[in-house]
Amino acid sequence: MNILFTPAKIGNLELQNRLVRSATAECMADDDGNPKPELENLYRQLAKGGVGLIITGHMYVHPSGQAHKGMTGIYKDDQIPSLKKLADAIHQEGGRVVVQINHGGMQCEEGTVADTIAPSHIEGLDLERPAREITLDEIDELIEAYGEAARRVKEAGFDGVQIHAAHGYLIGEFLSPLINHRTDQWGGDTNRRMQFLKNVSESVREKIGPTFPMLIKLGMMDGVDEGLSAAEGTEIVAELAGMSFDGIEISGGFGGGGSYNIKKGIRSEDREAYFLPLAEKARKATDLPIILVGGFRSLPVMERVLKDGQADFISMCRPLISEPDLPRRLREGVQIKSRCLSSNNCWPEENGDGIACKCPHDKVKSEPATS
Ligand SMILES: Cc1cc2nc3c(=O)[nH]c(=O)nc-3n(C[C@H](O)[C@H](O)[C@H](O)COP(=O)(O)O)c2cc1C
Ligand code: SF4
Repeated sequence: MNILFTPAKIGNLELQNRLVRSATAECMADDDGNPKPELENLYRQLAKGGVGLIITGHMYVHPSGQAHKGMTGIYKDDQIPSLKKLADAIHQEGGRVVVQINHGGMQCEEGTVADTIAPSHIEGLDLERPAREITLDEIDELIEAYGEAARRVKEAGFDGVQIHAAHGYLIGEFLSPLINHRTDQWGGDTNRRMQFLKNVSESVREKIGPTFPMLIKLGMMDGVDEGLSAAEGTEIVAELAGMSFDGIEISGGFGGGGSYNIKKGIRSEDREAYFLPLAEKARKATDLPIILVGGFRSLPVMERVLKDGQADFISMCRPLISEPDLPRRLREGVQIKSRCLSSNNCWPEENGDGIACKCPHDKVKSEPATS
């Protein structure tokens, strides 16, 4: 059997195969973050489509962290029943699901939060508006908020939690020397910039107990001048097992919709798996299961990365927007390649509000490619 479709574990989470749906902001929640019915439908489609693990789109842990309209919230207990419906729906279809928790930090869009926060005062950098420096009290409040959100993840019946530490959101901002200029205990060298992540992971672990799966999506490098380097990212990876993480998803890049982490124009196999060099560094620094995201499109590339031991799981976002049942199609040999054009026209800013997680090319596509 193809190695992609062999079972595997992350912590005590047993998965039927090694394909993961990477977190994808679905933009299917109301203004308070409550999921709309379309979100349950989408998750059912993904679970039926045979992906081994669904990672939800990022959910905001505190009202000050809503990154954009339509983002799902997990910041109050009232939200548990509607979240439970999502977990139940996925389980009914035989799927597994981990919730990604996040705070948008300096990237929260106008119209979502009154002002944006970051480790230090920041302006420019293509931000919509300057971000003010977060206070010490707010830091404590948000560490607690991450823990409380993770408790809700568990109470709602999901299979695990993933802490979002990539793409220039709040945790990524603390890790980045470009954004974190603090001179107190929350800033300084790599180790000190990691302190916020350490406290968040402790808070989460305390609330979920010792065995509930805790994953991280780590931006191992920012890919911008003066940002987090791959060497520093590797130092962080080496610390993750000690922070009691069960698995790591490797990404990179700065900025939610940035071209570095969501690369366009993946038209040939040599452009696929664009964070493989980071995975190779991570492999040497940790024994944790590695989930690799970024540009996977064809079965032979996925298979090769797993067989060579560069990663344990293959994670995809855009291909599963285009075809939520791609895993089933790959398994059944209907096709060996995603039909995704890597055009990024599914990004909400391109598409307009409310139609994220839909591929606008669907109507013009003919039958899926068979090679
Ligand atoms: C519409 C859209 C929404 C995304 N939302 C998230 C998100 O909520 N959390 C996250 O970690 N990454 C998010 N990403 C990034 C993807 O998870 C993934 O890292 C990136 O698209 C590269 O993988 P791909 O080539 O398989 O698309 C998003 C990407 C797209 C296109
Ligand atoms: S718009 Fe469609 S084809 Fe383009 S990247 Fe998104 S899913 Fe792929």
